[in-house]
Amino acid sequence: MKDIVAIYPGSFDPVTNGHLDLIHRGSKLFDRLIVAIARNMDKGEPLFTMDERKEMLEAMTSELDNVTVDIFDGLLVHYCIQKNANAVLRGIRAVSDYEFELQMALMNRKMEPRVETVFMMPAEKYSYLSSRIVREIARLGGPLTGLVPEMVEERVRRKIAQKQSNVTTMHLKRRAKS
Ligand code: PNS
Repeated sequence: MKDIVAIYPGSFDPVTNGHLDLIHRGSKLFDRLIVAIARNMDKGEPLFTMDERKEMLEAMTSELDNVTVDIFDGLLVHYCIQKNANAVLRGIRAVSDYEFELQMALMNRKMEPRVETVFMMPAEKYSYLSSRIVREIARLGGPLTGLVPEMVEERVRRKIAQKQSNVTTMHLKRRAKS
């Protein structure tokens, strides 16, 4: 039987417990799993740099021997071919994810029929969880317990505090100038 190499792509800004749940499931199903952070996303200003996201994902998956973390540019299907991957892993949380995921999977298949998309469902307790919601809750000072690993929670809090202090400094400088 041939080895199945799967790519789990996403923005992971930051990695959540839902992502980690899927990575664990994927690592059991595939021979190798590459968690691939997409660069140049049209998603506004990110919270973490690509390297910071990679570092957190690596720390969180270090005990999984068949999982590696990487950063990619450009089309996902090109990256799959470059890595000799035969599958793309995506998580579906609720029906609302389906339409976008279907469009992406079919478009990827049209561009590269050698790569199959495999959908998996994270545990129900993560079905409401997303990186965007984590960022929003953190910005507004809400609790992140159970949503992200402790180490990520700590990094998110530090990053938000740092960003808020940068904004305050900028306002003070502007006021001093005017
Ligand atoms: O974490 P996300 O935002 O759900 O991930 C979306 C991602 C990164 C998987 C998707 O935007 C992607 O594959 N980007 C790479 C560029 C690409 O191949 N676009 C065409 C998709 S049909």
